[in-house]
Amino acid sequence: MKILITGASGNIGLNITEYLLKNHEVVATDINLEPLTKKFLNFNNIIIQKLDITDQESCHHLVNDNFDWVIHLGGIPHPDSSFEELLELNIRGTYNILDSLVGN
Ligand SMILES: NC(=O)c1ccc[n+]([C@@H]2O[C@H](COP(=O)([O-])OP(=O)(O)OC[C@H]3O[C@@H](n4cnc5c(N)ncnc54)[C@H](O)[C@@H]3O)[C@@H](O)[C@H]2O)c1
Repeated sequence: MKILITGASGNIGLNITEYLLKNHEVVATDINLEPLTKKFLNFNNIIIQKLDITDQESCHHLVNDNFDWVIHLGGIPHPDSSFEELLELNIRGTYNILDSLVGN
């Protein structure tokens, strides 16, 4: 299967990417690609690509590709974050990903 992951450089993202690469093709995205490029340098079934989930146009462009699954992890996990931070990233970012999928 072909799987898109957002926030793939994060704690959950790096672990789930490693697991999925055993059997699947993964397009791993994040705004910070360094952890991904370090960890998956020698894998040939991964595409590592920059994606800012707050950028609606980029989300539409990328998600337009055909994926069997999308695992959306881009966001702020901290419970003490301000509403404004969560609004921009967790809410608008999630909206952008879902809106891109609905458009397919
Ligand atoms: N860790 C947990 O226990 C837990 C529990 C429940 C839900 N979650 C949710 O799961 C998701 C991932 O959690 P985590 O612990 O891996 O967090 P994390 O902070 O380790 O990873 C989040 C990733 O999102 C990326 N990111 C930040 N801004 C971005 C943007 N504009 N565009 C694209 N990517 C961006 C970061 O670079 C980071 O790699 C979060 O949304 C979190 O709220 C986590």
